[in-house]
Amino acid sequence: MQKDRILITSALPYVNGIPHLGHLAGCLLPSDVFARFNRLIGNQVLYIAGTDEHGSPCEIGAKKENVSVEEYTSKYHNIHKDIYQKFNLSFDYFGRTSSKENIETTQSIAKELFNNGFIEQREDEQIFSIDDNMFLPDRYVIGTCPFCGADNARGDQCENCTKVLDPRDLINPKSSISGSSNLEFRKTKHLYLLLSKLSDKVRSWVETRNWNKLTLGIAYKWLDEGLKDRSITRDLKWGVPVPLDVFPDMKDKVFYVWFDAPIGYISITKELLGDDYQSWWLMDKGASEVQYFQFMGKDNVPFHAITFPATLLGANENYKKVDTLKGLSYLNFNGGKFSKSAGRGIFADKAIEEFDADYWRYWLIKNAPETDDTDFSFERFSEEINKDLNDVLGNFILRVLKFYNSKFSNVISHDIIIGDKEKQIISLLQQKIHNYSSFIKSLEFRKAMAELRSIWVMGNEYIDEMAPWAIYKTDVNKAGQILAFAINLIRIFMIISQPIIPDSSLKVLNALNTSGDWVFDVEHDISIINKGHSFNVPEAIFTKISSDRVSELNEKYNK
Ligand code: 2FM
Ligand code: ZN
Repeated sequence: MQKDRILITSALPYVNGIPHLGHLAGCLLPSDVFARFNRLIGNQVLYIAGTDEHGSPCEIGAKKENVSVEEYTSKYHNIHKDIYQKFNLSFDYFGRTSSKENIETTQSIAKELFNNGFIEQREDEQIFSIDDNMFLPDRYVIGTCPFCGADNARGDQCENCTKVLDPRDLINPKSSISGSSNLEFRKTKHLYLLLSKLSDKVRSWVETRNWNKLTLGIAYKWLDEGLKDRSITRDLKWGVPVPLDVFPDMKDKVFYVWFDAPIGYISITKELLGDDYQSWWLMDKGASEVQYFQFMGKDNVPFHAITFPATLLGANENYKKVDTLKGLSYLNFNGGKFSKSAGRGIFADKAIEEFDADYWRYWLIKNAPETDDTDFSFERFSEEINKDLNDVLGNFILRVLKFYNSKFSNVISHDIIIGDKEKQIISLLQQKIHNYSSFIKSLEFRKAMAELRSIWVMGNEYIDEMAPWAIYKTDVNKAGQILAFAINLIRIFMIISQPIIPDSSLKVLNALNTSGDWVFDVEHDISIINKGHSFNVPEAIFTKISSDRVSELNEKYNK
């Protein structure tokens, strides 16, 4: 079968700070499930992520910790990497935007843009904080949002209404570093990306996109309001230096973090594959065959739907650009935002100490904040883990395997008999696996999970209806046949569950001494485990979360 080539990128999380569950739910986990699913069905996948390491927050963070910015970013990069490994995120490569490759690639894209007439140097007035003795990066100017009136809107974007802002739009601006409103405009030179000049190119490209309504809505809103030229450099030390051979009077300037961050997708691929990166990123070198999926939080959509494509279109039309873009909403904690300073919410490093990755993966994908923000609470978490993973899935697996092992042995000695009930199950299962796959392919994770859960439920229903426990008393052989069929259901359930709960699936598949190849044909797969095949009964697969434990967790993480 012809393999599809699937490029997947997950928005690069800012390196400063520890990721919380929202970062996992709203970007990283869905992209991982999609990558694992595509590998499982035999597609060729390249799954790229990494840390976004530039910008002033890192300079400030390093100062606070009294280390160099390099040490600071390396430390946090490793923390991110370690956490994501523990959550079983299956990146092909997890890179960094401060890499040599990203510096070179960013500089070379800027040169291409300049040569094509899409970058211009302008002298500009920028906010200088007299008390901080520095030009303030946009996000360090705070004030009232002119659009929605929210306090504490940042100069780059209002988190409340997601409008992208210019710091001079803010009402009553002040420095978020010192709180001082002793600000003035000073002249400084910057490079501008001429988005106004790129607007027609971007519009024609957007018109060819088969995006969902929400994403197209955002893109056209930007285009219809008119793309404004944006400054892409900053007066900072930490960042990708502006190349002085092309821009000789731009000493001590670096590119704006949002200019070099998405270029990271390309440079991280280069770091992994060397020249072979071309077959993923250059249309004339094979990338025209690639389907490119991007995952991100909703606030990142404008940068991925407009600004980054504009950068690539202006630099060289030969670059691969996104085909499908999945923007997700936010995950809240007990109705509020996760906040380290307020001690509210569980951060990813602690989360993984409390429960195995599969518990989190299951809950966060089942409740993926797809259309609206989703609320996490330990009550909901424990309820769904106890019901779905323990009662529905774990219980089915263990009852069947334990019963067979105790009444017969751990070697299958019965034929797989397909009666009317079994026929019904086979055809329903085929249909449901098809639905589940289609939902993952169309990035509808909640729907996919509902389908998966309903597949697991079928196992319990089969056993309850066929009642091998009762039948055993009168027809030992028939009871064995029912259980042998059920053991094959377990195998199929675990194969298709791998993208969501990889550790538990593998544990059960190993106990069944069977491989994890994708199920294309249930009728064939239902008798793969047959006479002579041996299995082990796994130890408990999932453990229930008690109400005492929930109280403890609330005590700990909801101060
Ligand atoms: O919102 C964020 O966490 C950004 N660091 C995402 C950047 S995505 C890409 F451009 F790198
Ligand atoms: Zn606003």
